[in-house]
Amino acid sequence: MRRLAALLLALPLAVAADDIAEAKRRWAESPHGPMLERILPPTFDAAKMPEPGSAGARLTMQYCVQCHNLPNPAMHHAAKWPTIVERMVYRMEGKGNYGTLMFEMMAGVKAPSTEEAQTLVAYLQKHGQKPLDARKYPEAFTAAGEPFRLACNQCHVLPDPKRYTAKEWPAVVARMQENMEWMNRVVGTRPIPGEPQLRIDAINAFLAKYARKK
Ligand code: HEC
Ligand code: HEC
Repeated sequence: MRRLAALLLALPLAVAADDIAEAKRRWAESPHGPMLERILPPTFDAAKMPEPGSAGARLTMQYCVQCHNLPNPAMHHAAKWPTIVERMVYRMEGKGNYGTLMFEMMAGVKAPSTEEAQTLVAYLQKHGQKPLDARKYPEAFTAAGEPFRLACNQCHVLPDPKRYTAKEWPAVVARMQENMEWMNRVVGTRPIPGEPQLRIDAINAFLAKYARKK
């Protein structure tokens, strides 16, 4: 009996994983695949979704993988998600700047209902990023905080250093470096005059200084 319950619980996840594989195949085969593939990195997957059994997780895995990799709710803070979802729904309805491209590419793109879109926003907000509080970390806005400030707000708000311990941060920063390469943002590790440099050591030192203690 217990095994059956576990099986039933695992079922929606398995179905969602199928949806994701199917969607990936669709956009990977499109002539615009290489562009779409670079929009979001492949670092996040269904197994890491918070509250995996919730309606919000299910809808994210259903709608948000039709054009790019699965978005991580923790990428953006709560205030940012409503406009992003609005922009994405607009596209799913075949409107917006990429409208015709999206439409030609996959006639099968489905858009969420108004209610589903609300559930999506609430879910993404609930598990969103906690932004750095500028009043608590004035150093982020001085010369010492510059390597962190410039590198870490290119794609989302500056994260709260208390999110991780000093021991945990370097792995997250290393993943972000991969994300930068994937999404083609500034990664200058060799000096090019006039280009901001990615100074991993300085970034980790800043985060370690203000990190959660344990
Ligand atoms: C119809 C195709 C399509 C679907 C479906 C789609 N997106 Fe997007 N998404 C795009 C395109 C194109 C971009 C790049 C341009 C841009 O950022 O607006 C993008 C970019 C993004 C980005 C990176 C840009 C940023 O502002 O951080 C995030 C995050 C994102 N989408 C989240 C979502 C979420 C959440 C959903 C589901 C509610 C979703 N997407 C569904 C087409 C889509
Ligand atoms: C090129 C865009 C980009 C840049 C620049 C970037 N990030 Fe991210 N960040 C992402 C994406 C995409 C996600 C969601 C996917 C993931 O977690 O890998 C994310 C998610 C996060 C998260 C939430 C997820 C978690 O594991 O807690 C934190 C914290 C974070 N980034 C910290 C940073 C830090 C620190 C820097 C500067 C070193 C940085 N980011 C620079 C793209 C970026």
